[in-house]
Amino acid sequence: MWLNALQQWSSALRVFSGRRRSDERNASGVTQEDKKPSVAVATCGFAGPRRFVDQSSERFERFKVAAENYPTNLPAEHAPNLFRKPFDPRRGHASFFTEMFQILNMIQELNLPQAALIVDVGAGAGWVTELFLGLGYRVKAIEPSPGMIEAARQRIELFAKKAGLPVKNRVEYLCSTIEELPKDLPWRGHADAVIFFETFHHVIDEETAVRQAFELLRPGGLLAICGDARWLPGNDVQAAAWNEEMDRYGTLESPFTREYMEYVLTAGGFQHVSFYHSINGLFRVGCEDRCLRDCVSDFRALGRFSGSAEHLNTVTAQKPVRSGFPIAVDPARTSSAIEVLRCQPISDDNVELTLRLTNTGETEWLAQGPQLGWVSVGLIEDRPSGLEARAQLPKDVVPGESVTIVHRFSIAALRAPLVLRLVSEESFWFEERLSLKLPK
Ligand SMILES: C[S@@+](CC[C@H](N)C(=O)[O-])C[C@H]1O[C@@H](n2cnc3c(N)ncnc32)[C@H](O)[C@@H]1O
Repeated sequence: MWLNALQQWSSALRVFSGRRRSDERNASGVTQEDKKPSVAVATCGFAGPRRFVDQSSERFERFKVAAENYPTNLPAEHAPNLFRKPFDPRRGHASFFTEMFQILNMIQELNLPQAALIVDVGAGAGWVTELFLGLGYRVKAIEPSPGMIEAARQRIELFAKKAGLPVKNRVEYLCSTIEELPKDLPWRGHADAVIFFETFHHVIDEETAVRQAFELLRPGGLLAICGDARWLPGNDVQAAAWNEEMDRYGTLESPFTREYMEYVLTAGGFQHVSFYHSINGLFRVGCEDRCLRDCVSDFRALGRFSGSAEHLNTVTAQKPVRSGFPIAVDPARTSSAIEVLRCQPISDDNVELTLRLTNTGETEWLAQGPQLGWVSVGLIEDRPSGLEARAQLPKDVVPGESVTIVHRFSIAALRAPLVLRLVSEESFWFEERLSLKLPK
């Protein structure tokens, strides 16, 4: 359950005591039928091997209860490891490097804005949550096991004290599977990133999990999956390790083929689905010509961390920016750049402005729409309750995009000084302002 990503290294938490095989249901409640590897069934539009244990959603309750009970079923000598993860004192510190490198690489890749909102799915006892908090992010920690949440609370409390950081109010724990998350969460649709660290292969109903992740994200938000083994159908070493774990704890161990992972994410509406190699280390001067693939296999041969895409599904994907979501309703994420390309008096009462407007924020600007919050340009008197004239955008503008607008503003009633500003209708004025001097 804990260190499911790289089966070549046994973890400090997982001590295998030899194989136990039985055709009967064993103590964990998992049958041989439950563990049967998936076959090529085209029930969802994808033909080919999907997950190590297919159609696990049919046994949702059983796998969920096993996840809930996991900490209580841990042998007493392993329980303190809930607080020690990711530290691995054995020579080489294999699982320490595996876990640290994977999460650090992913955080770097995501390149999130300061104080971003992250959903940590399957947060467990919270060591990744702790990292996020230390980096200044806000975290929603989703975890079905009450025992894990309690351990995470304790851990984070200690961390807050030790670090002297105001982390306590920046984390919210939700005791739920990702699949069963309540519909009415106020931050639904606002998360900058949803991350599954060593968790995605535990998800019981992958389609629902992906739908939830999609809905939790803001437009343009990122999904990250890491610490997840890639299922290689026919690989007996993988199968033995995962079956062993399921025998022991009854938890679902069901990694994905790369092809099915890509299918599930794309079918769930995500775009830019990218898979990664993850390698870290010192490279001797003189070795610059070695290619990435060589480094991956060198590192594997040396027993060092090599998260090659052959063995791991390390994935990012993006929720499209244009998704019909409520739009510029968040001033903190909405910003503009305004340039006056031309200012042409038409008469005493009218001026024609040619403006270039660039969406430098993270929200989509709708030219108009059914909800309030669409974006217009205002030419306004620079004083409280000053009069104004407005112009509509010619089209919707996504983050990073520029539009040019030519508009005749009626200025008969307006007194200088004047400024140009964008407004999210009935919501707020944008921060940025450009002073406008009208030609005499
Ligand atoms: C291997 S642990 C990883 C925990 C944590 N991310 C870490 O790195 O320490 C997997 C976690 O996923 C949780 N989990 C299992 N099924 C889940 C589901 N359907 N939805 C959300 N979390 C789940 C488990 O309870 C467990 O805490």
